[in-house]
Amino acid sequence: MRGKHVLLGVTGGIAAYKSAELVRRLVERGAEVQVVMTAAAREFIGATTFQALSGRPVRDSLWDAGAEAAMGHIELARWADLVLVAPASADFLARLAHGRADDLLATLCLATSAPIVVAPAMNQQMWANAATQTNVATLAQRGIRMVGPAVGDQACGETGPGRMLEPTEIADLVEPLLIGPGPFTGQRVLVTAGPTRERLDPVRFVSNRSSGKMGYAVAQAFRAAGAEVVLVSGPVALPAPAGVRCVCVESAAQMYAAVQTELPSIQLLVATAAVADYRPVEVAERKIKKRTESLTLEMTRTTDILASVAAEPKRPFVVGFAAETDAVEQHALEKLLRKNLDMICANEVGAAKAFDCEDNALLVLWRGGGRAELARAPKRELATALVELIATQYHASTRAEPQADRRKDLG
Ligand code: CTP
Repeated sequence: MRGKHVLLGVTGGIAAYKSAELVRRLVERGAEVQVVMTAAAREFIGATTFQALSGRPVRDSLWDAGAEAAMGHIELARWADLVLVAPASADFLARLAHGRADDLLATLCLATSAPIVVAPAMNQQMWANAATQTNVATLAQRGIRMVGPAVGDQACGETGPGRMLEPTEIADLVEPLLIGPGPFTGQRVLVTAGPTRERLDPVRFVSNRSSGKMGYAVAQAFRAAGAEVVLVSGPVALPAPAGVRCVCVESAAQMYAAVQTELPSIQLLVATAAVADYRPVEVAERKIKKRTESLTLEMTRTTDILASVAAEPKRPFVVGFAAETDAVEQHALEKLLRKNLDMICANEVGAAKAFDCEDNALLVLWRGGGRAELARAPKRELATALVELIATQYHASTRAEPQADRRKDLG
């Protein structure tokens, strides 16, 4: 949302305290936020909170000569790329439906040509009231978008529809309106990330070294490029990226099952996960005691998730990762062909390289002999460059062979 202008209207309801967090969520995604409060909103939360979070003085009056001199209300209405009213009270919905211009926020809604989104919040009986429902229908007819309300416990002690959506949910829903379509709009992408853990006993496991940072950055970059993203993640210490559906798994078998579930509805698979290649044949029910001087474990192969998806007759566009300590290009090329991938992203790992680092470099190879080197950069920047590269190859492949069985032309 970098550089986008959000005019956040806050009206009078107890959910106004959540709007402070909403400002944080919008600002952290790069938006510039101008808060406009109604008189009733000021009964619930102080303007200083919003000023501190948004970095801009709050506007609340049509008749503030100083503020109007700096940016008049018509200029402010033009400044907005999006008008978001959260919470939107029953009274505000009524005033909006009737085209009133009796305070600054209502006037701005009339004067703007930007999309308007409202997040209603009120007592469930007030929401269900025919007057409110008629107003909601009128607003919908005029193209005003409604996000929520959610159903649940209310501050008044009742239960039902009327809760404002959570700030992150609201930010996720308005983001596509602000950023417009991207190269992956309308496409579903599955990203695997993190390590897997293969249990030995209730307290021990075999795992791979992986922080998940690259995979999470890739998921976020696909989301920013308009994709609907499912992130199937092994255990990591990272929060799920905004707007991404996260499926948490532990073992390779669970990751495989989760990928199989999503497979019918995805167009791309990007496998960044460091999946364990082997798992213990037996998992002890009780903790293994140290009774012997040495211990031999019997391990068996796990299913190669990436290769099994790539071997499907009707399969998504498949991008693999390869972590190599030597002969990076040669090993990556061999994996691209052996696993029947569309693209492979290789990085050199080893002493202080790639693992747990904030930055990384990638060599990307694709079918037909293409290659690109993505220079060392913070993982978020690298992920954005990688997603652009994948977009070029993906769209070229879907144009060239929309129904392709990609196994055929590897020779
Ligand atoms: N991968 C997978 N399922 C596995 C193992 C690997 O999906 N059970 C995926 C990884 O997510 C990665 C790619 O396969 O995208 C490369 O994995 P890697 O283990 O480096 O390749 P291998 O073919 O197992 O080769 P190596 O002998 O180097 O381990």
